[in-house]
Amino acid sequence: MAMKRALWLMVLTLLCVVAAATDTNRVYQPCADTKIQRSDGFTFGIAFSSKDSFFFNQSLQLSPCDRRLSLASSNSQLALFRPKVDEISLLSINTSTFFPDNYGGYMVAFAGRRYAARSPLSFVANSTYTVTSFTLVLEFQRGRLQNLYWKRDGCSSCKKQSNFVCLNKQDCAIRTSSCKGRGGAVDCSLGIQLAFSGTDRHLRVLNSWYEVENLRQYSLYGLYSNLRDSLTSQYNKFF
Ligand SMILES: *[C@@H]1O[C@H](CO)[C@@H](O)[C@H](O)[C@H]1NC(C)=O
Ligand SMILES: *[C@@H]1O[C@H](CO)[C@@H](O)[C@H](O)[C@H]1NC(C)=O
Ligand SMILES: *[C@@H]1O[C@H](CO)[C@@H](O)[C@H](O)[C@H]1NC(C)=O
Repeated sequence: MAMKRALWLMVLTLLCVVAAATDTNRVYQPCADTKIQRSDGFTFGIAFSSKDSFFFNQSLQLSPCDRRLSLASSNSQLALFRPKVDEISLLSINTSTFFPDNYGGYMVAFAGRRYAARSPLSFVANSTYTVTSFTLVLEFQRGRLQNLYWKRDGCSSCKKQSNFVCLNKQDCAIRTSSCKGRGGAVDCSLGIQLAFSGTDRHLRVLNSWYEVENLRQYSLYGLYSNLRDSLTSQYNKFF
């Protein structure tokens, strides 16, 4: 399998605690199919690369698991996560040694093989701008992952923050030159808020999505003002 062969450097920190006891999902790799129930762990990947490398024949966006893309042999990075289904999780990718713009600057979230799902491309960084905050929705039907998408809030969370620039009326970006390791002082680690929607394999409704909607007012930008403290401890105070 392409993913397994590839010696991609993994850059990941999983900030949510997975309670192994109730995890009945035996599928631990992202390029395989599974059906989840609430309280399971669910493995998915995020690939970083250039815009073009996610497309086959420059027109068809395929899952990074699809060998026709040969992502593993291009300039790319892979992060793997296993959050708990239906729990709001904040994933963090530390950028102190990983600069997304060195790997093409775009990312795609994905999971599954025969039932492959992948998100649209999301811009992360180039030499001018870095986007640090994302919300990813994982949508299941009867426990099967159907769809992954980035939820955007039209920059409402950074409108009043002078450090941020609104890109394409959808992404709040910071100047890459303000980032640590790039000449600045800001920790530009990526924060990815997860939300689950749809139904699990027992047709129980996954509703962490509604909680994220309510959480948006406390968007990640507030948390980033003091990133030195653990992201989780600050995040948890909202519950
Ligand atoms: C790639 O795209 C070109 C032009 O759009 C088309 O003629 C060709 O058949 C495509 N190749 C494959 C393998 O799909
Ligand atoms: C990223 O790693 C650096 C070096 O280990 C550390 O100083 C920094 O606090 C980390 N950032 C986050 C968000 O964990
Ligand atoms: C970086 O991305 C922004 C937003 O997409 C774009 O306007 C800008 O031209 C890009 N800069 C470089 C150096 O590619």
